[in-house]
Amino acid sequence: MKNVLSQIENKVLTITINRPDKLNALNQATLSELDDIIQDAKNNENVSVIVITGSGDKAFVAGADISELATTNANTGMHFAQYGQSVFNGIENCGKPVIAAINGFALGGGCELAMACHLRIASDNAKLGQPEIKLGVIPGFGGTQRLTRLIGKGRSMEMNLLGDMVSADKAEQWGLVNLVVPQGELTATVSKIAQQLADSAPIALGMAIDAINRGLECGLNEALDYEVKAFGICCASEDKNEGTGAFLEKRTAQFKGK
Ligand code: COA
Repeated sequence: MKNVLSQIENKVLTITINRPDKLNALNQATLSELDDIIQDAKNNENVSVIVITGSGDKAFVAGADISELATTNANTGMHFAQYGQSVFNGIENCGKPVIAAINGFALGGGCELAMACHLRIASDNAKLGQPEIKLGVIPGFGGTQRLTRLIGKGRSMEMNLLGDMVSADKAEQWGLVNLVVPQGELTATVSKIAQQLADSAPIALGMAIDAINRGLECGLNEALDYEVKAFGICCASEDKNEGTGAFLEKRTAQFKGK
């Protein structure tokens, strides 16, 4: 892999978008490498949690690659957006928790990539935004939709129409990121959270992610019904026996994902 690095340690797969000279902008090749790694990770028993970050200390991802965007027409533009959406849907639905470690600019496709992740931890130098409007386009990798679901219509309109960047602190206030930490503490903080997730019950984590995501796509009754079924699946797992047994025996649970 040329544009994306990956490394597994203690069941945590860290994926680093690695085009620092282009502020980790996502060209087609990078998206394709990212997709391959996510697809492999889905079925890899050695991976329980995924962290996505950017190379260097300036950018998470500064957007889709504008030099490729410049060459699009209606047809190729739609294909590019469809492809980006399918890669990001693959992240959102990969069945394992994915954390965005936002180490700098998360703009355009970078903000959209972060929003496809399940948790977003940002360093205090991070800046987030959907600046596509300044290029004469709109977000195509989910930005008009995931942003609205995350922070509400009014703020999503503001970010999408003005295209200005918001600071990490404001992003935290708005619920666009879960936590902001000093730049030097980002890696350690994300590792700690990733390890907590890696030690947790994998089936229950997958069910919680699925129930929350699906619930946003349907009415309350249907969503609650889905929760009932997901709860039933968890109750049938060995991990439920281990988790409840460990509590009652006052010991730490050892989950196996079974
Ligand atoms: N696509 C392609 N290249 C990009 C890029 C992108 N989205 N974002 C940054 N780069 C490239 C720059 O062209 C530059 O390359 P060069 O050195 O070969 O000229 C390099 O990354 C460094 O960027 P630069 O603009 O010089 O850094 P800066 O610190 O002055 O500004 C940003 C940083 C993030 C404010 C600025 O790069 C920017 O606005 N990027 C575009 C953000 C955007 O519109 N994203 C949505 C795209 S759909």
